[in-house]
Amino acid sequence: MTDSITITDNRTGESVEIPIRHGGVNSTDWASLLGNIWFADEAFSHTAVGESAITELVGDEGILRYRGYPIEQVAERSTYLEVAYLLLNGELPNEAEYNAWIDEITHHTYIHENFLKRFIEAFRYDAHTMGMLISSIAALSAFYPEAKHVLDPEIRRKQIVRLIAKVPTMAAAAYRFSVGLPFVYPDNQLDFATNFLSMIFRIAQPKYECHPAVSRALDILFILHADHSQNCSTTTARVVGSSHADPYSVVASACAALYGPRHGGANEAVLEMLRRIGTYENVNDFISEVKSGKTRLMGFGHRVYKNYDPRAKIIKEAADAVFEQVGKNPLLDIALKLEEVALADDYFISRRLYPNVDFYSGLIYQALNFPTTMFTVLFAIPRTSGWLAHWNELLERDSRIARPRQLYVGHPKRDYVPLSGRG
Ligand code: CMC
Repeated sequence: MTDSITITDNRTGESVEIPIRHGGVNSTDWASLLGNIWFADEAFSHTAVGESAITELVGDEGILRYRGYPIEQVAERSTYLEVAYLLLNGELPNEAEYNAWIDEITHHTYIHENFLKRFIEAFRYDAHTMGMLISSIAALSAFYPEAKHVLDPEIRRKQIVRLIAKVPTMAAAAYRFSVGLPFVYPDNQLDFATNFLSMIFRIAQPKYECHPAVSRALDILFILHADHSQNCSTTTARVVGSSHADPYSVVASACAALYGPRHGGANEAVLEMLRRIGTYENVNDFISEVKSGKTRLMGFGHRVYKNYDPRAKIIKEAADAVFEQVGKNPLLDIALKLEEVALADDYFISRRLYPNVDFYSGLIYQALNFPTTMFTVLFAIPRTSGWLAHWNELLERDSRIARPRQLYVGHPKRDYVPLSGRG
């Protein structure tokens, strides 16, 4: 048996044999026989955008690995910043590299004072924090004009450090503005997750403190959200990056893609759904609504995972650790009942719908006192390293600009009709 596929053009009888490499076939080989025939694959369900060595995802087996390391191991033993280093550099850092990396990120957390005082404060009092974050990230390109030299690896590296370090500061500033509290500057003595919590929650205390289990749970959530191969926002980052736009514009566009309720906005939608269901007793009626197609069970289903989402399993454990410290989220019982009913129901079984990463993450965020409008922001903070790892990989390989085709189904040629002749 050869690892190849033979395609025959029935119009001419000509054939082409295409080798299968890394589980895919190359469209260039296909084009050698069928130059003007395009694949129709609207949602990229069967299209690989190219090769990537960052994250391996095997949906049928529930496998997720960062640079070869199983997600279960990194979630248990690593830190978010170490994971970011791994995604970007391909290898785990040694001790000296790790310390230098932490030091570098920690010393780039501040943002220009104009930014806080003029830019963030220019938003309306009720602006959504994701809207503020997306535009704040885009605005950073105006502060770092050298960032447009995207083919220079050293300049790229510098912007990567800036983005990973400053996105939490901007996210926290957006939150503080939205609740009318003064901005809190980064505390460089704190670790990444605790510093973020400090910028969000510190009021009058001279130094922010929280239970280590709480900051560790947030760090685990950051690890789990750091990358996920070609999801909607990462593909957006690659498409925008392929035009050689600067990294702030790339990350802002990826962040915008993340905002939608089918993607990173699902965690916010899960909480709204749980609140709407309201009580344990209403779960069965809600499931009937889902089955009749009136609504979706948010936090369930995934394009790639068809058995389970390994991140959801880890999150459930992290949730227990948080609830032990801060008390159980009252919506947890509704979520557990929803999961139990759905997993036993043929509608969900036959469509292979399981809880995804967003099903329980919102319950943790809420238990930590984050408002729902911050949930997608909490996804964007760690995903920044994943977007940038893909952006960097793309530019290292100097790939071509993304430019798909379409199957035109509009009018054939027709002549322009002047306004007076249109009836
Ligand atoms: N509730 C009810 N039915 C569903 C759901 C759901 N959450 N998800 C899929 N289905 C049904 C869908 O109606 C369809 O049924 P039928 O074959 O009868 O028409 C079938 O399952 C296949 O669905 P699909 O829409 O073709 O699946 P997709 O791969 O295009 O969509 C998805 C994937 C994640 C957008 C979708 O499952 C969904 O909308 N889930 C809810 C939103 C959500 O939780 N998103 C977070 C995804 S994980 C975090 C991330 O990476 O962003």
